[in-house]
Amino acid sequence: MSEATTSPDLLFQDEIRAAVRDAYRALPAGAGRSVTDRFYDRPELDGLPASALDWALGVGNPVAHAALQRGEVVLDVGCGGGIDTLLAARAVGPTGRVIGLDTVPEMCERAERSIRDAGLDDRCEVHVGDMEAVPLPDGGIDVIISNGALNLSPRKSRAIAEMARVLRPGGRLCMADLVVDRELPPAVLASDAAWAGCIAGAVSERVLRRKLERRGFADVTIEHGTPFSVDDVAAYPLFPADVIDLMHRLLPPDEQGEVATGVVIRATLAGMPSRAEVDGSGVVSLADVAPASAEAPGVTVRPLKQVEDVHLKVLDVEPGGSTPFHTHVHAHEGVVMTGRGALRLADGRHPLAPGDVFTVTPNAVHAIEADDDEPLRFACMDCFVE
Ligand SMILES: C[S@@+](CC[C@H](N)C(=O)[O-])C[C@H]1O[C@@H](n2cnc3c(N)ncnc32)[C@H](O)[C@@H]1O
Repeated sequence: MSEATTSPDLLFQDEIRAAVRDAYRALPAGAGRSVTDRFYDRPELDGLPASALDWALGVGNPVAHAALQRGEVVLDVGCGGGIDTLLAARAVGPTGRVIGLDTVPEMCERAERSIRDAGLDDRCEVHVGDMEAVPLPDGGIDVIISNGALNLSPRKSRAIAEMARVLRPGGRLCMADLVVDRELPPAVLASDAAWAGCIAGAVSERVLRRKLERRGFADVTIEHGTPFSVDDVAAYPLFPADVIDLMHRLLPPDEQGEVATGVVIRATLAGMPSRAEVDGSGVVSLADVAPASAEAPGVTVRPLKQVEDVHLKVLDVEPGGSTPFHTHVHAHEGVVMTGRGALRLADGRHPLAPGDVFTVTPNAVHAIEADDDEPLRFACMDCFVE
């Protein structure tokens, strides 16, 4: 690129990217157990390779909040040494898939080694790549998790747009990251360590929410969790002693206890019909809804039923009956019209009542059960999500 077309801002962004990459490449070791001891429960770490624990450099535990289901396809953005990739791989089971993405090849190699050592290479893969240009096709991911990575991007809107591109409609995002209320002193902000350590790139909760909503994410929740003090920050190997010392000297004592706040950010990519959209939309073709999939004793399939202006497939499950266990290759969504019952998934029985909208993730084996003395009547809305 010629000098005339290089904006100072882009140059600045390139410098940040290079500084972040160099900082992670240069790390001789991870944070030991300080990150795992703070954010993970011991039992969930049982059986994971020691190196994955020692290289945990995140700021939370996104898998604990992501409600991952068997069979889901997960992308771990900025996977680092792979601790969350491994936990996600356990959660999605052998029919699921987890893709780790990191811009630093050394981190990817560590993640790959941990995956092999954990015996999870049947469902995991790792790619070297940048979150601002994710090397994956559109719409193939059910859930994106990320832990302390978005703040490392100097173009967060671009990284969020990439997340929206690779997620399927209705896909979910669950990230642990840091937010800030106050600017840090310029001398701290200008240090490479503050960028690599997720602090200089942190934005406020309001800005983060707006960026997500602008890129098509809905139901954005930002759950406040953990204050990060100067001493907490010092536990990460990314911060050399002189930067910590600078923070101690330049920050007023009342600000040293919380230089940033760890949050869990959850959002859904718009695209699945909401109840309101279903009620208000036009006639929908039922051709794609497998008509035989729910036929069984006690189950009546009634192909067409007018619900306001929408044609839907309505199933009646007789009291005590159950639809056969079956799967869909896409997300399966339904709305309960009358009766009480439950959605049965591998992880248990989830009660359903009139008015409930339920979603089953792609390929999840499930059945719908009735347990009241009137049939459970629900409408499949799969035809909306093709
Ligand atoms: C704070 S570490 C967290 C690693 C991991 N998520 C964990 O919890 O241990 C952030 C990771 O993001 C990676 N990273 C930084 N910039 C990136 C980018 N632009 N694209 C993808 N990964 C990036 C770093 O190499 C590093 O491994």
